[in-house]
Amino acid sequence: MTMKIAILISGRGSNMLALADELDRGQSHDAPLSERGKIVLVAADSSCAGLALAKERGLATAHISYSGRPKQESEAEMAATLNKAGVDVIFLAGFMRVLSAEFVTQFEGRILNIHPSLLPKYKGLDTHQRALDANDSTHGVSVHFVTAGLDEGPLIAQAFIPILGDDTQQTLAARLLPLEHALYGAVMTALLSGELVLHEGHATWHQKPLIAPQYGTLSYPR
Ligand code: GRF
Repeated sequence: MTMKIAILISGRGSNMLALADELDRGQSHDAPLSERGKIVLVAADSSCAGLALAKERGLATAHISYSGRPKQESEAEMAATLNKAGVDVIFLAGFMRVLSAEFVTQFEGRILNIHPSLLPKYKGLDTHQRALDANDSTHGVSVHFVTAGLDEGPLIAQAFIPILGDDTQQTLAARLLPLEHALYGAVMTALLSGELVLHEGHATWHQKPLIAPQYGTLSYPR
């Protein structure tokens, strides 16, 4: 079965492009990943740069307006657009809207997010600066299943970088971004290969619970 993928964005769309590249190039159990998954929709809440890049790449796009109308109405349009495209799984990639519990419930276990911090640290915005302000020695990125709480769903995987003495939020963000792309691509591959699922509220990997991601570039239980 080819899983139909939607990617939701609000900005420059680099994670969206990384997922598209991974689908084009990746392998899963000696078969091209493109046999297991296909991006059927890139949807954005604004006419952002990422949406133009998705169009240039020949992907189907939708702009769902969230400003000047009730969120419920925008989410209903988003859900209808996703359902019309027959979407099986949704990757949030810099989508800057908090999804309502009603929306999340409709797609339970089928929404993933990438967040630029070592969750549960620094939910929300300004994660790089907050890691610097706290004098942390490590920083990183997390991929998790989405539940109704902001950046709160079960963790799937994390990637880590050291914080250096002269780091600024810009240097941290720049060093982290390639890891974000690699991590999200690896998680997508695992999901499309059927190795990763949300089961009874926990991310499971090869049917084993994924309780606490470990230090490392990609962290899955052995
Ligand atoms: C990334 O840092 C991602 O982790 C966060 O928002 C940013 C989106 O960047 N959720 P891009 O639009 O994918 O380039």
